[in-house]
Amino acid sequence: MPARAVRIVVLASGRGSTLRAILDADPGGFGARVVAAGTDVKGCPAMAHAEEHGIETFAVGLGDFHDRAAWNDALAESLTGHRPDLVVLAGFMRILGPGVVRRFRIVNTHPSLLPSFPGPHPVRDALAAGVERTGVTVHWVDDGVDTGPVIAQAEVSVVAGDDEASLTARIQAVEKPFYVAAIRQLCQEIR
Ligand code: GAR
Repeated sequence: MPARAVRIVVLASGRGSTLRAILDADPGGFGARVVAAGTDVKGCPAMAHAEEHGIETFAVGLGDFHDRAAWNDALAESLTGHRPDLVVLAGFMRILGPGVVRRFRIVNTHPSLLPSFPGPHPVRDALAAGVERTGVTVHWVDDGVDTGPVIAQAEVSVVAGDDEASLTARIQAVEKPFYVAAIRQLCQEIR
């Protein structure tokens, strides 16, 4: 009997190009299924994209809760309802609390070579530091800011004349197939 599909829930806050890359890679082909997509930003383009693919979406906005702990509890409850084997962060821009990260297997992609340049402006920070190389880190998520165990990294050179937009674009061109390959590998290990 074939192993059942690995259930993936994607969390995203923004434009959804990472989510799109995951869906375009045909997760069914590597034994996975994106069963739902969730967000903290109601109406963000990432959720519209998921809906176009017929994927169930949910929104858990921080502003709808009296504190962060309540938001974390609500997010954990929504995630639990979808029974994920793997939670995939795809440009999800909130820090998850211990009640979420200890309950699920969560993977993230971050556009720097961690532990360098964690936080919300990794490309800007890399340029400001004058590094010659930056890149992408795929890592497990813990309750720190981009501090979880590293799974894989890919380097991207900084070139003369780079600004935040040009370097971000080159990093993301590397990041998408790299993240998809890492997710595929994780799904094979989970099955
Ligand atoms: C991606 O480059 C991802 O690495 C980054 O946000 C972008 C999302 O783009 N994530 C982080 O910086 C997390 N710390 P998208 O909204 O088009 O998928």
